[in-house]
Amino acid sequence: MDIRVVKDYEEMSRVAAEIIARQVRHKPESVLGLATGSTPEGVYAILADKFKSGEVDFAKVSTFNLDEYCGLPESDDQSYHTFMENHVFSKLNIAPENTHIPDGNAKSLEKECASYDQKIAESGGVDLQILGIGIDGHIGFNEPSSEFSDGTTIVHLDESTIEANSRFFIDKTLVPTTAITMGVGTIMKARQILLMISGEKKAEIAYKALKGPVTPLVSASKLQEHPNVTVIIDEAAGRLL
Ligand code: PGA
Repeated sequence: MDIRVVKDYEEMSRVAAEIIARQVRHKPESVLGLATGSTPEGVYAILADKFKSGEVDFAKVSTFNLDEYCGLPESDDQSYHTFMENHVFSKLNIAPENTHIPDGNAKSLEKECASYDQKIAESGGVDLQILGIGIDGHIGFNEPSSEFSDGTTIVHLDESTIEANSRFFIDKTLVPTTAITMGVGTIMKARQILLMISGEKKAEIAYKALKGPVTPLVSASKLQEHPNVTVIIDEAAGRLL
C-alpha cells in the first residue's frame, strides 16, 4: 500500500483529483469505480473545474458506482442516483449510457446483483476504483461480517452506518436499512484503488484498516492484499499510523 499522509481534506481532494485526471488522460476510455458520501465531494468539485478548464475530457469514460440504498426512489434527495447527478453527471461530460449505479429498486435484487457484476466484467473491469471508508470499516456498504463478501450483494446496514448517514435525512427512521453494494471481491478486482480517509473520526478505523489484521470485521483491511492501492489520508485521520 502506498500511504500518503496529506495536510487536510483540501489537499487530499487535490491529490486524489490529480490521480483520477491523470488516469483519464492516460486512458480516455477508463472505467472508473465511483463512491458517494462526504469524502469524495471535494474531488468531484475539483474534477468539475478541471473539465471546465479543458484539462480533462470524460467523453469516453465509463463509471460504476459502489452502492445504492434499497427501497429509496431514485429521485429521492438522498439516493445515490441523486448524489451522482448533482455532484458528477451534471458537471462532467460522461455519456449517460456509460454511467452505472446499482438499482436498489429492482424487482429481483438477486438478478440485479448478478447483472451488475456482469456489466462490470463486460466493460473490461474497473481501472481505478475510488473509495471512502465508513467508521465501521466498510468499503461500499460491506459491513463487518464473518466473511468477506464476493460479488455485488444485498446488505443490512449496521446501526453505526444508519446513525452516521442519518445526518442527511430529516429523521433517522427514514434512513433505509438495506442496500445493494459491490462486494469486497468485486472491489478487489479493480486494477488500481484509491482510498481516501479524512477527519479525526476516522483515525481509529484507519489504523485498524491499514495496520491491523486482515479481517472481515473490517472490510477495508482486505485492501492490504491488493497489489495497487494508494491511500490518501489527512493528518487528522492518520494520527495513529
Ligand atoms: P463519508 O462516508 O465519506 O460520508 O464519511 C464514507 C462511507 O461510508 O463509506
